Amino acid sequence: QTCILIGAGMDCGKRRRGCIMGPDAYRTAGLAGTLNDLGWQVEDRGNIDAPQWVPDAPKGKVHAREECIAWTKLLAQAAETAIQDGFPIFLGGDHALSLGTVAGVATHAARIDRPLFVLWLDAHPDINSPETTASGNLHGTPIAYVTGQDGFEGFPAVQSPVPAENVCFIGLRSVDAPERDFIIRSGMTAIDMRQIDERGIAAPLAEFLHKVSAADGMLHVSLDVDFLEPAIAPAAGTTVPGGATFREAHLVMEMLHDSGLVTSLDLVELNPYLDDRGRTASLMVDLTASLFGRRVFDRPTRSY
Ligand code: ARG
Ligand code: MN
Ligand code: MN
Ligand code: MN
Repeated sequence: QTCILIGAGMDCGKRRRGCIMGPDAYRTAGLAGTLNDLGWQVEDRGNIDAPQWVPDAPKGKVHAREECIAWTKLLAQAAETAIQDGFPIFLGGDHALSLGTVAGVATHAARIDRPLFVLWLDAHPDINSPETTASGNLHGTPIAYVTGQDGFEGFPAVQSPVPAENVCFIGLRSVDAPERDFIIRSGMTAIDMRQIDERGIAAPLAEFLHKVSAADGMLHVSLDVDFLEPAIAPAAGTTVPGGATFREAHLVMEMLHDSGLVTSLDLVELNPYLDDRGRTASLMVDLTASLFGRRVFDRPTRSY
């Protein structure tokens, strides 16, 4: 079993810079060695070169649209290729990189005739379109793009949109009004922090995994640093109080490992410039280790 590391220091999905340093922070925190120790072969494909500078159209509220379009094309191609060779881990980079990674793995899933599911671990649903966005930041839009919503002029058409019913958010606590309306109409599964407080994080995740399993789906996981409580993960530009605890986050990753359903992973929004002695990068690496099988005691594989 091979995991493929792909660095994507995409930094144009919002105005605050620093995610460009993410891929190197994960390497510095020992990601490859950690995965090796867990019995995985690791192929590090290095960093995707930033696209040739493309001047942005002067008008409009969307930040760096042309640059994001160029990244999306590169990433969709890289993702579609990598998932044929192993388990891709995309080292971000901000969350706009998921426009490309999810579109790319979706193309592959459609080609092999399997449904793709997406688990979005994030304080935010990132389901604005370039038309509904208040910030103009495209890191707030990937779920709208990959589910085939309108408003993405200039972006490549999504060949295989992910059905709304195949999307599950866990960790929500900052949702814009147009996003809320859309989620309610769309049939997406949205687990906010209140539900996690009331039910725990395991029960709703198990329900979703059961759905993936019953459909023989592939599962793409997109882990945004701001899913986590900012006190334990300060290195993100859009932290929101009240996030997942250390154990909630590890439990999610451990259950994902046990399920055997996950086929690709994004690690996004790490801004090493904002970190505190590397603790956020290290936590993200440890969470990845849990997803790849680190555990205290062996437990039988669970079926969902
Ligand atoms: N909803 C806000 C927006 O559209 C925040 C998005 C934050 N997204 C993220 N990937 N951190 O700008
Ligand atoms: Mn996000
Ligand atoms: Mn977020
Ligand atoms: Mn948002």
